[in-house]
Amino acid sequence: MVVLISGTGSNMAALLDACRSPEYGAQVVAVGSDRPGAGGLEKAEEAGVPAFVVPFRDYADRSEWDTAMSERIADFEPDLVVSAGFMRILGPAVVGRHAAVNIHPALLPSFPGAHAVRDALAHGVRFTGTTIHFLDEGVDSGPIIDQVPVPVEDGDDEAALHERIKTVERRMLVDTVGELARRGWTVDGRHVRLGRTGPSPTDASETKETP
Ligand code: GRF
Repeated sequence: MVVLISGTGSNMAALLDACRSPEYGAQVVAVGSDRPGAGGLEKAEEAGVPAFVVPFRDYADRSEWDTAMSERIADFEPDLVVSAGFMRILGPAVVGRHAAVNIHPALLPSFPGAHAVRDALAHGVRFTGTTIHFLDEGVDSGPIIDQVPVPVEDGDDEAALHERIKTVERRMLVDTVGELARRGWTVDGRHVRLGRTGPSPTDASETKETP
């Protein structure tokens, strides 16, 4: 897999750790970022994993950047792209060419977008959580693979709640990516099934089996 990050990369680091065990069934072939200074890039290099940066500002528009990102990812021939704390919207050039999953720090479809933890706190929910989903061309809108709820505690601020979510998120990410790698998956409309075989979908044209 190619892992995409924009910041600290604690989720990426959890994946790198899991990949040390051959039984895990997946390998990180590269780590990519839109930000040259992303802390996670150093962690990747320390682990001996190639890192690349495709800075947004180097391209005339979003579509050119998206095409460059897609090409760079393709150089590593991944079976899966994992967006783990990648803070830009990936467009059709990436999403149309590569199977890609994203983690989001809320229980989608509630609180999509860049400020999910803040928005959940402001709304006063008692539970929020984390979601892993396949990417489509929308914002945090693709088919959901797994979700884990996290309680909001009295006195939580954004940082405290986000940290509690991230602890749960890392475990969910590692578990789910391992399952996808070992068992494959089928997407039938909005429904994701692990494994390459299963009950016949009602509309075969809607079904994608990968890889
Ligand atoms: C995670 O909470 C992820 O869901 C969100 O950004 C955070 C990234 O954290 N999109 P890290 O860089 O993996 O530490």
